[in-house]
Amino acid sequence: MTMHRICALNDLADGAAAKFEVGKHIVAVVRIGDQVYAIGNRCSHADVALADGDVDCDTKQLSCIRHGSAFSLETGVPSTLPATQPVPVFVAEVRGADVFVSDQPTMHAASPDPRVKRAQP
Ligand code: FES
Repeated sequence: MTMHRICALNDLADGAAAKFEVGKHIVAVVRIGDQVYAIGNRCSHADVALADGDVDCDTKQLSCIRHGSAFSLETGVPSTLPATQPVPVFVAEVRGADVFVSDQPTMHAASPDPRVKRAQP
């Protein structure tokens, strides 16, 4: 996993999302104050850009603009339907005046949804 500088912190509007290409991934990056978060840009319900959605700074969630599912910026897990699967989460850091994001997710949409109990093999 490599961290990539994507922009200056001041290039990100507070409480809003922006789309960046990091390695082979398209990532929605959100700034809340001096914190930054990065999740996969594609909604897990349909092919819609999460960076076009609204940020809830209090709950640290990004809502899909099409049907309103709200995804945690920390876990990628949606808290509201219709989406049921998480989106990938990337490491995002502020280093000095710059923002860095990992080119590999820490959690991926293919990972089991932690809310779903699975049968043991
Ligand atoms: S396309 Fe995102 S919730 Fe439906």
